[in-house]
Amino acid sequence: MLPALGLFCVQTPGGMMLDLVTDRPSGAAAKAQALAQTGPLIAARGLCKSYDRRRTILDGVDLEIAAGERVALIGSNGSGKSTLLKSLIGLHPISGGTLHCFGEPVDARGSRKQRLAMRRQTGFVFQKHCLVRRRTVLSNVIHGLFGDAGSWRAFSHSLAPPEWRDRAMQALAEVDLADKALERADALSGGQQQRVAIARALVRRPRLLIADEPAASLDPVSGRNVMELFTQLCRDHGITLLYTSHDMAHAVDYADRVVALKGGKVLFDRPAAQVTRADLKDTFDG
Ligand SMILES: Nc1ncnc2c1ncn2[C@@H]1O[C@H](COP(=O)(O)OP(=O)(O)O)[C@@H](O)[C@H]1O
Ligand SMILES: [Mg+2]
Repeated sequence: MLPALGLFCVQTPGGMMLDLVTDRPSGAAAKAQALAQTGPLIAARGLCKSYDRRRTILDGVDLEIAAGERVALIGSNGSGKSTLLKSLIGLHPISGGTLHCFGEPVDARGSRKQRLAMRRQTGFVFQKHCLVRRRTVLSNVIHGLFGDAGSWRAFSHSLAPPEWRDRAMQALAEVDLADKALERADALSGGQQQRVAIARALVRRPRLLIADEPAASLDPVSGRNVMELFTQLCRDHGITLLYTSHDMAHAVDYADRVVALKGGKVLFDRPAAQVTRADLKDTFDG
């Protein structure tokens, strides 16, 4: 048994701090390990995506994301942000170009095994939290484990093995909702429900967190709270973060880098601190 040093850390016999959320080294060690990984976590070259022959949605996107980075993706409605997020992790097959995710090539057809391996390492948070309203908060978090072996047990917290329940309780504690575990999901406020969705993503112990407009359905204060919470969690656990936002303050304040999409291409890709008003105007004009 490893000595527990806090809610989410234990010390290994070798003296290394281990993060219980991700099963990887924690704190400074997590960051160092994430950044020391060779090669980018995601690398797209000339990525193209069409849903049909009439229209090209993504037209030669080049994008690299290093492990441990936090990247915001911006662009006007319909510019292809959600399409790019889904394509990068193999949820949508790409139509052209090359794509590597977690160091593995993702070919145009993408085998089922490849997609499952990628999904296992990725957590998702969407604008609509998609919780099962009538189920408990704890069961909803355990639903994050669907897709793993024996995952029918993730249907309900009462069927789940104790280890899964422990993992889900750790994730709920991370989003400060452990005391709501046995309440029905629809008894919680919008901001709390989005925090449950974050816990459902964390329970997978992801290397990469993909968030599509995570604060768009929330009021401004809850929205900032949610953004602060998950950027902090990603920093603490060395999780790479890629999110879309139509709120430019959210893009600039919580990301290391901002990538703008326009006309199916990357309009700019630069550190958040260097993004100017003129950049934002160019992104949304015309
Ligand atoms: N599954 C789909 N099938 C066909 N067209 C789609 C599909 N998903 C998105 N699109 C189209 O692709 C374009 C980009 O959509 P999307 O990626 O959702 O943009 P954004 O997230 O930037 O608003 C839109 O014109 C949209 O209608
Ligand atoms: Mg979208």
